[in-house]
Amino acid sequence: MYYSDEIRNQVISANDIVDVIGQYVELKRSGSQYMGLCPFHSEHTPSFSVSRTKQVYHCFGCGESGNVITFLKKYNNMTYQEAMEYLASRAGIVLPKEEASPEQKERNKKRDILFSINKDTATYYYRLLRSPKGQKGMAYLKGRALSDKTMNQFGLGYADGGNSDLVRYLQEKGYSSKDILDSGVAVFREKDGLKDKFWNRVMYPIMDASGRVIAFGGRVMGDGIPKYLNSPETLIFEKKKNLYGLNIARNTVRNKDKDYFILCEGYMDVISQHQAGFPMAIASLGTSFTVEQAQVIRRYVTHVFLAYDSDGAGVRAAMRNIGILRDAGVSARVIDLRPYKDPDEFCKNLGTEEYQKRIDNAENSFYYQIRQIEGNYRLDDPESRTAFYHEIAKRLCGFDDEMERENYISAMAQKYGIQRDVLSREVAGYKEAGIGRQSFSEGPVRITPAPQNPTAQKKASSIEKAKLRNEGLLLTWISDDPDVYLQIRDYIGPEDFSEGLAREAAQDYFKMLEEHYGDPLKVEAEGTKAPGFTPAIVIGSFEDEDEQKDVADIFNTRIKGLTTQPEREKAFKDVVLSVKRASMENIKASNATGALGKIAKIKKQMEEIQRMHITFKAAEES
Ligand code: UTP
Ligand code: MN
Repeated sequence: MYYSDEIRNQVISANDIVDVIGQYVELKRSGSQYMGLCPFHSEHTPSFSVSRTKQVYHCFGCGESGNVITFLKKYNNMTYQEAMEYLASRAGIVLPKEEASPEQKERNKKRDILFSINKDTATYYYRLLRSPKGQKGMAYLKGRALSDKTMNQFGLGYADGGNSDLVRYLQEKGYSSKDILDSGVAVFREKDGLKDKFWNRVMYPIMDASGRVIAFGGRVMGDGIPKYLNSPETLIFEKKKNLYGLNIARNTVRNKDKDYFILCEGYMDVISQHQAGFPMAIASLGTSFTVEQAQVIRRYVTHVFLAYDSDGAGVRAAMRNIGILRDAGVSARVIDLRPYKDPDEFCKNLGTEEYQKRIDNAENSFYYQIRQIEGNYRLDDPESRTAFYHEIAKRLCGFDDEMERENYISAMAQKYGIQRDVLSREVAGYKEAGIGRQSFSEGPVRITPAPQNPTAQKKASSIEKAKLRNEGLLLTWISDDPDVYLQIRDYIGPEDFSEGLAREAAQDYFKMLEEHYGDPLKVEAEGTKAPGFTPAIVIGSFEDEDEQKDVADIFNTRIKGLTTQPEREKAFKDVVLSVKRASMENIKASNATGALGKIAKIKKQMEEIQRMHITFKAAEES
């Protein structure tokens, strides 16, 4: 169901986020915010904040943030539709019945058909496996020690034949040939028309997080090629965003007494671990692990155990994915499966208890990475040993958090017998040169000399980050105290923000503020209650869940404790000036027509900003 912006905004504005979240989380007032124990990670001291002015929540511990709709989706596992219905009825708003744009309706209809075809196909394969025709498949799966219960839980099935039985079955159910083809379960051949894509394979339905079948993986029973045949990407199957087993694993962390998944490589690994009592196992789907998948994981947990094959490919994947996870805010530990090849073999040979021990003893991902690259050096040779220590120092720069970095510097110094202050100075030097957290994502170290200017690129991206951070600070500041906007509206606009999410968020938000402040009556009427122009509404206007989270983060950039008026004024002006300066640099770099005029204008604005006085509402929070 599609709702207009107007309806969605109305629903968000009519439900005060403090009241709604207060139903689930005990909140205490603290300054202008409400604080409580975060429901999305386990903690003993409250770092979960809810703001009435902004109508958003944000956890300083785990980074979760969003508006009232994202809260319900996440906390109650509601769909967007369900959250809207709940909030509308809570506020006595009647939702319109049908509102989708014609293209959207078309797309939704098509998606529904593809879901339905996949579901019917899964049922077809499922029954076939359990029928006399499925004996071969059943024997294969039993041979791999799967119980009936496990097979049922994963909806395993069987595709026999090698003709068009499934196609015919689906056609009889009334699906058009076009839809069947578009669902990916059939292929078209010039010679003989529509044929089943899968045959003579055991079938693993792939489900999305809410348990809907979106694709299949089919395994040959024996040594054929390809080992697994997978559905192509379709309107409902995007490989890079899905994780096998997530529909089950997500339930294991619902109440957050557990906060981890086990990430592995194969379908069979997930299934075996599940059978051994580890339902938090998930796998990426036959392609290498993606940034998107890391972000999906981050929505559920902050820790991951990597259970990758113990061969060279598995080690390379672990080295690479540790960095990807870390960038997404997920910390990793690595499970040692030796002498077995993968979690499937391990669990079947040594069983649950031994596997649990391996989980308990999993290695810190940084130690793991250093241990792997250690193999590239000869520690008995001073030259090679020095190169190794430099490499350690470089990688230590990846820790942004100073305390964490210090701890790792100590640990490495001790472990490898390096003098702590020597190592520490070396790290500081690299940091100075702009080597940042990207160093985490690098694979095993190159022995060949690094390219001439290795830091330039890293520097550029750290400038980008600083820029985005200033923009976030500015928006956070304004949303904490919207009257400030009136004082600077002539000096700043959406065009000063980085292209992309930040600019879009600024655009939406400033527009809302203009509408609001352009109408004095409205200002009066609203008085002190939660205003109707909150960041919550800006967040709601982004469709993609990941984008919503990013935008929520923009409005929750952490502002350090500034209590006095002059302190605040100085910090705020610094932020505005930084944004303007970056905007000016951007124009310079673009070389666009009229650039000179624009630059002159910004320079003048900056001078005026320096001289301005800005007043804030009473400083109250930390
Ligand atoms: P593996 O070869 O490790 O498969 O590939 P596996 O899951 O352990 O399978 P078994 O135990 O031999 O039955 C890991 C994953 O890579 C993808 C699949 O998702 C598989 O689970 N893959 C592998 C393919 O998509 N196609 C292939 O031909 C092979
Ligand atoms: Mn395997």
